[in-house]
Amino acid sequence: MKPLRKKLLVSFLLIMCLTLAGVLFVLAQLLPVYLSHEDERAAGEVSGLLQDKGIILDEPTRNELEERIAGIDAETGKKQLPIGFLSTLLITFSAAFIVSAVLYFRLTDRYVHPIDLVTGTALELAKGNYRARAEWSAPGMQSALVTAVNALARNLQDMEALRETEAERLETLIGHMGSGLLMIGHNSEIAMANSFFLNQLNLEEHALIGKSYKAAALPSGLIRLIDAVQIEEKPRTEQMDIETGNSTGTMAVYAAPVIGGHGSWLGIVVVMHDITELIRLERVRKDFVANVSHELRTPVTSIKGFSETLLDGAINDPEATGQFLEIIHRESGRLETLIEDLLDLSRIEKEGFTLELAGVRVQNILNQAAGTVSGRLEERGMKLSMDCPEHLAVMGDEPRLVQVFVNLLANAIAYSRPGTDIRITADSRGDMAEISVEDHGIGIPEEEIPRLFERFYRVDRARSRDSGGTGLGLAIVKHLVELHGGSIGVESKLGEGSVFTIRIPLARQTGQ
Ligand SMILES: Nc1ncnc2c1ncn2[C@@H]1O[C@H](COP(=O)(O)OP(=O)(O)OP(=O)(O)O)[C@@H](O)[C@H]1O
Ligand SMILES: [Mg+2]
Repeated sequence: MKPLRKKLLVSFLLIMCLTLAGVLFVLAQLLPVYLSHEDERAAGEVSGLLQDKGIILDEPTRNELEERIAGIDAETGKKQLPIGFLSTLLITFSAAFIVSAVLYFRLTDRYVHPIDLVTGTALELAKGNYRARAEWSAPGMQSALVTAVNALARNLQDMEALRETEAERLETLIGHMGSGLLMIGHNSEIAMANSFFLNQLNLEEHALIGKSYKAAALPSGLIRLIDAVQIEEKPRTEQMDIETGNSTGTMAVYAAPVIGGHGSWLGIVVVMHDITELIRLERVRKDFVANVSHELRTPVTSIKGFSETLLDGAINDPEATGQFLEIIHRESGRLETLIEDLLDLSRIEKEGFTLELAGVRVQNILNQAAGTVSGRLEERGMKLSMDCPEHLAVMGDEPRLVQVFVNLLANAIAYSRPGTDIRITADSRGDMAEISVEDHGIGIPEEEIPRLFERFYRVDRARSRDSGGTGLGLAIVKHLVELHGGSIGVESKLGEGSVFTIRIPLARQTGQ
């Protein structure tokens, strides 16, 4: 039973009991007086009547008559109860009780039940169960109260759903943002660290949360930065190298105080961006500019120097003139190659550059490339052998693939001793064609291999420059191969030779 109803029932029963007790008490006090008064009155009337009729009663007969009138039992000598009066009283009281009870239940049902319902719903809402609703369909004031509480519950449920959605959104955002986030509370304890931050520092959440930032296993540079923000109460940004697992990454760390509405100190927020790649790209850019300048300066200096010498009078010496003009011609040729390579590379790297793909026979490509380098091969007394299935075809841009193999063959010739052999083998492997260019040249030290495809990277600068190289060839090759959806790999042994292997997707129908 609902609390208010229960209380009212107890009150009702108590009132009824008290009323009954009061009635009984009054009855107990008044009944004897009333009865004796009635006895006396009845006895008086009987005596008067007898006297009127001239009947004189003797003393014992009078006494017996009075006793009878007073309702005293002759045998027991006790006064008899007025049963009729009492039963009337009992019936009246019972009827009054039943009528009151019926009225009580009707009234409570109508007015108290909805209040109990609303109270129960309000208590459920207070506990956080925003799905609770009061159900009452009868019209009237009570219905308005129930409707109001239900509307309140609905609003609370909607607000809770909105709050949950926003909390979820925030959590997802913080969890998936590409930067590390660390929140330190006003008591210097770490309140939150997102997964990016934990991954970057290779830490577990339980090693940080709830701990003072000074005691947690944070990098010393980061602790120093947080200390500084706490003292100065101003935001700070620093770039620092941080151990990330088994490597070191460069991070841009921003730390700022979090100040509440009334200037209260709420803590510190730390945001950490991984700028390792950015730094690497910046270094590549700087290296590129430095390399281009250097590569341009060498032939330009040479051209300028020799032309000045000629202008200063050497032009009068036909032998020197011929020699100097030859150098100027060679150096301007190198300049031209460098500029062409640079332009080519920038064209390939440009967004939107597309290849004209078609099914092309590998043998065809290799023959064209071999034709281009045949002069140089002959010059150095080298032999080129080829082993390629006749119908092997790839999906490729023919002139670009020829360019790839010309570069690889030119390297194989340039970095091999005269008289050695170069071998090309091609075959299909799965849905890729695998084409290898193998030389028996100077080879490449293992530690140099990862940098081989960087622009301007050369293992032996002096030798490469002598061979007229700029260090852009393999960078171009790699780009072109990858644009074809393929890959390039190198295997090499210093002093023994190198094998450059290219994988390119096969044409859908081989044998074109
Ligand atoms: N087959 C090879 N054997 C030994 N070293 C090689 C071979 N191919 C390339 N290399 C090394 O890799 C470097 C980079 O080669 P890459 O073709 O990019 O430049 P390059 O030959 O110097 O100049 P170019 O841009 O004119 O080709 C070369 O300088 C050379 O040191
Ligand atoms: Mg080269």
